[in-house]
Amino acid sequence: MKRKVFEIAAFVALFLMVACQPKTETKTDVKTDNMVTPSAKLDPVIEKRIDSLMALLSLEEKVGQLNQLTSRGELTGNLSENAGSQQIADLIKQGMVGSMLNVVSVNETRAVQKLAVETSPHGIPLVFAYDVIHGYKTMFPIPLGEAASWDLEAARLSASIAAKEAAAAGLHWTFAPMMDISRDARWGRSMEGAGEDVYLGTKFAVARVQGFQGDNLADVTTVAACAKHFAAYGYIEAGKEYNTVDISEHTLRNVVLPPFKACVEAGVATFMNSFNEIGGVPSTGNSYLQRDILKGEWGFDGLMVSDWASIAEMITHGVAANEEAAALLAITAGSDMDMEGYCYVPSLVKLVKEGKVNINLIDDAVRRVLRLKFRLGLFDDPYKYCDNEREKANTLTAEHLEAARDIARKSIVLLKNEGNLLPIKENVKTIAVIGGLAADKDVPIGSWRAQGETNSAVSLLEGLQAASADKFKIEYAEGYKITNEARHFVSQLKINTTDRSGFAAAVATAKRADVVVLVVGEDCFQSGEGRSQTNIQLVGLQQELIDAVTAANPNVIMVLMNGRPLDISKPSTQVKSILEVWHLGSQAGNAIADVIFGKYNPSGKLPMTFPRNVGQCPIYYSYKNTGRPVEKAPEQVFWTHYTDAPNTPLYPFGFGLSYTTFTYSDIKLSETEITPSDKLMVSVTVTNSGAVKGTEIVQLYIRDLVGSVTRPVKELKGFSKIELEAGASKEVSFELSATDLAFYGADMKFKAEAGDFKVFVGGNSVDVKESAFKLK
Ligand code: NOJ
Repeated sequence: MKRKVFEIAAFVALFLMVACQPKTETKTDVKTDNMVTPSAKLDPVIEKRIDSLMALLSLEEKVGQLNQLTSRGELTGNLSENAGSQQIADLIKQGMVGSMLNVVSVNETRAVQKLAVETSPHGIPLVFAYDVIHGYKTMFPIPLGEAASWDLEAARLSASIAAKEAAAAGLHWTFAPMMDISRDARWGRSMEGAGEDVYLGTKFAVARVQGFQGDNLADVTTVAACAKHFAAYGYIEAGKEYNTVDISEHTLRNVVLPPFKACVEAGVATFMNSFNEIGGVPSTGNSYLQRDILKGEWGFDGLMVSDWASIAEMITHGVAANEEAAALLAITAGSDMDMEGYCYVPSLVKLVKEGKVNINLIDDAVRRVLRLKFRLGLFDDPYKYCDNEREKANTLTAEHLEAARDIARKSIVLLKNEGNLLPIKENVKTIAVIGGLAADKDVPIGSWRAQGETNSAVSLLEGLQAASADKFKIEYAEGYKITNEARHFVSQLKINTTDRSGFAAAVATAKRADVVVLVVGEDCFQSGEGRSQTNIQLVGLQQELIDAVTAANPNVIMVLMNGRPLDISKPSTQVKSILEVWHLGSQAGNAIADVIFGKYNPSGKLPMTFPRNVGQCPIYYSYKNTGRPVEKAPEQVFWTHYTDAPNTPLYPFGFGLSYTTFTYSDIKLSETEITPSDKLMVSVTVTNSGAVKGTEIVQLYIRDLVGSVTRPVKELKGFSKIELEAGASKEVSFELSATDLAFYGADMKFKAEAGDFKVFVGGNSVDVKESAFKLK
């Protein structure tokens, strides 16, 4: 009722305003042509409702909509009850907050929403945001792990389940997916994206956006997604968190931006900018990125939120002298909402009044905030996402857990399997399970765990025990110790680095067993935000334990739980089998057991190259040829290489084995010459040449041999996931068009350039069949 009244009042006010609007003088040097988006996608009904509401708002209230604050609830108690949060409550009542993050649960979101709707001047609902990265309560594999499934349906499904659980808890908006291309294993946040590749990264970014948002943002089972971090956050120098980025326009356009652009086309509701600078300009104050490219060229009509305090951090970066200058830079550059930066609320009103900020900039940003709220349906019912029954019924359901198990299995990568030690055979009597991580129920939940509960995962030991059903004797030895300190916000490792007291028992257990499952890797909080490392070998005493256990028993299966590529050069020569299992989420133990006992034949492929050592970082398959690529005789030094390690990685991008084998026939092309309007069909026959049914991810790469700028030696342009019975064959075809061959060339125009191309098809980025064609 209250909302209807304000809409009628707003109509009248709008009339008066338009009639008596003073011409606003502006001293801001801003291009206004890319400020307001005349997008065909805009809903005229919503835009009209925004017009009405805008007419009612004072300048202060408009700026209030651009303010996003965090709940203190997680640290000091519930916002609605906590005295320390009273200040926030007061700001909400005054209409000085547009959005909150980290307010969770139906009861809490309802209580806080009530404050906004019932006590703020115009009853504008808040939009509640949260980092729902790989699940809300039902936890899925960390995003890098899930990308190893190369399964876009899986990504859609996990995002849609995460959205359903989060939306049932009163949330409207997730700060995901992260689509930063990451090619440097030192960067801890590699775990949060889809890895190193533009094509795979773009496909996963779009699938995740679709999963979160569904077809209708106003549906109570979906949430608004956020394309982050805009831009080039994964390109920090030396893989060091928050570090400087200096990237060419060429790499920006051809590598970093494609996933973001594709997500705009897929209708992503929001964007988040990044902490890094690019060429001296912090992203938060970067007009070229936010106004020219995103809102101008790409016509993005959604909301750009700053990263946490990134507006204020422009002072520390050294491009703003104080909060006011930072606010001026950020609003001018197209940052619409200030997350925890405390710059917009104190400064923007003053800046407008002094004529330093054009009111149109504020209005455009406010419209974007209101547009999101209208799209979510919050003006029709601000409490529509708050429903205790739905929260109970939609959270951690058997169906969600089953999906988590299946997606986890799909994400496992078999890196080595000498003598087919895996899957464990029926004649095995005793299995030794060694390593603190094997019994741990917390690490698999992963970093960025939203409301995933501490110690709630099925541990590998539990999974193996349940699956072995007394067929095998399972003996557990801890080996290295796991500690239990809270470590979300500190660099506290769960893996003990000094205590060898469990070694003797581990060795004795290994000696008694037929097969050893040795679990090593990283604590989940070794990766994630703020967790860059200069050493990517196994921490602590794990290598020493591997030495001891492999000396005691030659049949060792190494299970690697980690959030980033690791240097496992030494262990890879010591053990017979290696399973890369990432941090797989709630059902980790069951999923790994399915693979270890052969109930599920692994099919995952690496989304990020595994280096031989940290000195190779950044390393990626789609490198440039350079002028001196040809390997010379050992005594010659003048070619692109290291003198102390090979150029090749330990495991390349796209690599992953199966319990069966696949053979590829020669490539067939529909044409050897095409014009830009033709389609080229590329096909191969893939045969399951082993003894069991299996799934293969068939990958298509191209190389443009001569361009106006240098082109990578290989670029992924397609993949297909196929299942084949033992002995069966299938023809797999890919269609290539000129758009697939296009890139930003010397003139920075996106187009395909005529000339010779190579095309490759195979089961990873190295072992491929090759052919060639010409684009006329
Ligand atoms: C900082 C992170 O960079 C960003 O990704 C996240 O969404 C915000 N904090 C909010 O938690």
